Amino acid sequence: MKCSVVFDAPNIGREEKTSLVRIINTGYVSTAGHCVAEFEEKFAGYFGIKKSVAVQSGTAAIHIALCELGIGPGDEVIVPVMTFVATVNPIIYNYAKPVFVDVDPATWNIDSCAIENHISKKTKAILPVHLYGNPCAMDRILSIARKHKLYVIEDAAESLGATYKGRYTGIFGDIGCFSFNGNKIITTGSGGMVVGQNAKRLQHIKFLVNQAKDPKNSFFHPEVGYNYRMTNLQAALGLAQMDKLNDFLAKKRNFNKLYRKYLSTIDGIAFQENLPTAESSWWLTGIVLNKTKDITRIQRKLMEQGIPTRRNFMPITDFPAYKKYKKGRYPQAQYIYKHGLCLPGSTLNSFKNIEHVCQILKKVVSKN
Ligand SMILES: Cc1ncc(COP(=O)(O)O)c(C=O)c1O
Repeated sequence: MKCSVVFDAPNIGREEKTSLVRIINTGYVSTAGHCVAEFEEKFAGYFGIKKSVAVQSGTAAIHIALCELGIGPGDEVIVPVMTFVATVNPIIYNYAKPVFVDVDPATWNIDSCAIENHISKKTKAILPVHLYGNPCAMDRILSIARKHKLYVIEDAAESLGATYKGRYTGIFGDIGCFSFNGNKIITTGSGGMVVGQNAKRLQHIKFLVNQAKDPKNSFFHPEVGYNYRMTNLQAALGLAQMDKLNDFLAKKRNFNKLYRKYLSTIDGIAFQENLPTAESSWWLTGIVLNKTKDITRIQRKLMEQGIPTRRNFMPITDFPAYKKYKKGRYPQAQYIYKHGLCLPGSTLNSFKNIEHVCQILKKVVSKN
């Protein structure tokens, strides 16, 4: 069967292309134009909040959230050890210190029961990540934050549309951060969004990301700002992608169902699981092959048959520049990294593609 499976390629159709050409023809390809405001409004409307702020990337969203909350030199921020490195880098940009916590073996998210052991007098915030779209135990995280007077910044880069107790991830904490990188649930090429319930705070973020330009006196800058603005072109793409968000989510969730249905017979397989009160976006479906000794071999064998996969995130403290933040061991994250894989999740794939991935994966695992 000829069937080209793609891992996380963006799904950009005719609507997006038409919209981009229309905007290019207006000449407003950069900071002027109406698309950014419209995209922010549409995004905020999806969450039922008053305001959201579009930025250049998910990384910029996390960085500006930390800046807005005054997290700086000497402060500590609690993060999961298994995440994309972009969760952690902005903490270091601000000369604050990431404090790493191991993950829960079922959800693969920060182990909320271990958070309190990592709180010190210097702790200012908890930065949970809804990994691969899977919502964290937000009730527990929020109650710890309230008890210790900490901020909560949600890294919702991968979890657009995921819900916890019926509410979308991203708006539980003080600030939520999304990514629209090419491989995310919707894309703007590169881009991100900052959300939250505090409209005044978001208004200040909007000002900071625009070089802290005084809106009444355009080349006066009362604070040190950043060039983190989204462009009109990116927002035009985002607007068209937002119209497809529900279809993308439905497809990803169906992929997850199919993977579970067809792969459950593999001896020793386990899936990343969502909490009973949560519904993941299943941005990617992650598995652990408990009986497999060499996951790179499985990955290589799959690739030989045209099936692209991705290793789960390596624990951040294994990277040379982050070793100095290591405190103790992170056995769950190490295990999930050593035995885990993410399966193709691009919505360009058909359901037949996913069935094909399952057939090949079963064969490869049985022979290795
Ligand atoms: C968990 C997580 N956090 C942060 C980011 C950063 O987003 P961006 O690549 O848009 O800067 C990403 C994605 O790339 C991510 O997956």
